[in-house]
Amino acid sequence: MAFILFQDPTVLVCICKGLSDRRIREEIRRGCTTLRSLQQSCGAGTDCGQCARQVRSMIDTTARTHARDAGEHRPTMPRT
Ligand code: FES
Repeated sequence: MAFILFQDPTVLVCICKGLSDRRIREEIRRGCTTLRSLQQSCGAGTDCGQCARQVRSMIDTTARTHARDAGEHRPTMPRT
């Protein structure tokens, strides 16, 4: 019996265009912050549209994470 371990598994988000969650997050990090810009850059959501809700959710989540990592995160200092 063989096992295949994926270190960083991906999920297919847009079946019509064969786009994974990783690819869509990469496009968001490159500056696609709206569904329209993602549609233009990689075609996500341009066929059946079933993935549009998920793609919008990923845009929101990734934008929030990026904003937090960019400066809203303040490390706490231990009290002495
Ligand atoms: S699943 Fe994305 S357009 Fe159809």
